[in-house]
Amino acid sequence: MHVLVLHSEVEPDAPPEEMDTLIAARAVAEALRARGHTADLAAFVESMAGLLALLAEYRTEAVFNLVEGLDGQGRFACIAPLLLARIGVSYTGTNAAGLIATQDKPLTKRTMRAAGIATPDWAEPPDWRGLDARHRYIVKRADEDSSIGLDDACVVAAAEVPARAEASRLRWGGAWFAERFVEGREFNVGVLSRGGEPYVLPMAEMLFEDWPADSPRIVGYAAKWDEESRESRHTVRKFGIELHESALATALAGSACDLWRLFDLAGFARVDYRVDAEGKPQVLEVNPNPCIAPDGGFAVAAAEAGLSYSELIECLVLECF
Ligand SMILES: Nc1ncnc2c1ncn2[C@@H]1O[C@H](COP(=O)(O)OP(=O)(O)OP(=O)(O)O)[C@@H](O)[C@H]1O
Ligand SMILES: [Mg+2]
Repeated sequence: MHVLVLHSEVEPDAPPEEMDTLIAARAVAEALRARGHTADLAAFVESMAGLLALLAEYRTEAVFNLVEGLDGQGRFACIAPLLLARIGVSYTGTNAAGLIATQDKPLTKRTMRAAGIATPDWAEPPDWRGLDARHRYIVKRADEDSSIGLDDACVVAAAEVPARAEASRLRWGGAWFAERFVEGREFNVGVLSRGGEPYVLPMAEMLFEDWPADSPRIVGYAAKWDEESRESRHTVRKFGIELHESALATALAGSACDLWRLFDLAGFARVDYRVDAEGKPQVLEVNPNPCIAPDGGFAVAAAEAGLSYSELIECLVLECF
């Protein structure tokens, strides 16, 4: 098959979370070639005519969609599947509607609440209604992923939320909100489409090893993007709850499949959870088209299920028909 690996335009001086797209794109193309397909890489162009010309040039039969945004803005990632659908070419992953519904975190949370899926309480500017002085909050980006702005100072008392949100907006731009900080265990649950049905991959717990007492236990920006950092070296993935804690595993898997249907997800997705003091999984966020680099959490979970990287990538392409 002729597959076009379509990625976001990445400037040479782009931050690591954008560079990651190119690493993934090269690895995906390599994996497809290893399975006997033809694979070419191209940066997304934001016009119907330009896109049609690209698809024709490479005699494209399927697009592997790695468009994560335009000019580094994730909320425009939905334009790629929208244009591809309009053209009528098959593409991997979730459609535009699913991307829109999960890109804006407060909107995603409202949708989950309405569907009865547990997610921590939250508050939004300008009135910050609902902040509760008895709890701590994490101030996070409403409209971007990749732990932007998540450092040791992002977890604050309720009274400090508005000031932190304003400081974050001035430093990193974008929209910010506050979510009740859930101290408990963290899990990443990958879901892969197999024969059109959601298939839950082995679930990874994120362990915070030898963590300083005065530092919040979060997978922040340094943990994700600076391999040399203490945060990165001390966050460790561990598999095995399916075997040892089957009730928790069943609850997480059930929730992830509910979200798959709620947001019309396709191909692959990852849901991030924290488990609260009552043992109930609380959804932090839903990631359609999550990072698919060979060392990323999704590929590692697939490997844990016995799928090699090239099998995983080929499976994603075959599932889009
Ligand atoms: N309500 C919360 N309670 C506790 N920790 C949280 C909460 N929200 C976020 N975190 C921590 O911050 C990390 C990043 O948050 P989240 O997954 O919501 O944002 P993101 O920037 O979109 O991440 P990703 O790169 O996974 O897409 C989480 O993995 C978790 O460690
Ligand atoms: Mg996350």
